[in-house]
Amino acid sequence: MYAFPWLLLLLRLQEDDVDPEEVVAVLQESISLPLEIPPDEEVENIIWSSHKTLATVMPGKEGHPATIMVTNPQYRGRVSLLDPSYSLHISNLSWEDSGLYQARVNLRSSQISIMQQYDLRVYHSDYASEKPSTHFCLLTKGLLIFLLLVILAIGIWVIQVRKRYRMPRMKKLRRNRMKLRRKEKPGSSPS
Ligand SMILES: *[C@@H]1O[C@H](CO)[C@@H](O)[C@H](O)[C@H]1NC(C)=O
Repeated sequence: MYAFPWLLLLLRLQEDDVDPEEVVAVLQESISLPLEIPPDEEVENIIWSSHKTLATVMPGKEGHPATIMVTNPQYRGRVSLLDPSYSLHISNLSWEDSGLYQARVNLRSSQISIMQQYDLRVYHSDYASEKPSTHFCLLTKGLLIFLLLVILAIGIWVIQVRKRYRMPRMKKLRRNRMKLRRKEKPGSSPS
């Protein structure tokens, strides 16, 4: 009865021993998850999973190619095998494809299976020429700059129009003052 939690812990420790290999991929492009199997080992089957079972690979007998059975509909029509390594090739990657992947290689010769883990990270391509959304981003930035320039131009125009309105008034005032002074001058020298 007390052995059960220990067994669970031991199993968990074993899982943690497998360090996930980081694989970086570009959205809508393809990637292969490389698998390394010792060449002298005979493979019974390979089970690929990510959250849930993804596909089962059966090696081909007598020179026939290996077969892959995709069980997760999310990957249907997008996965294939890279011969002769059994590496998994996934095409047209989506955001949902990112995450942890696991390959369990069951060997015919022993009860032990080889486990390989991957951490797939799907990124957006940085090339504006390839991705329409980056185009969109550039377009938005351009529009924003254009809008700012228009606002600036309107602001400058409004300030100048206001100045023009004020200028004639000020000139009139100055002229009136000059007239007043002129009038004062003749009156101040009758002596
Ligand atoms: C790739 O996947 C997207 C959806 O994620 C789909 O709309 C598109 O048609 C697919 N392209 C190809 C070439 O299969």
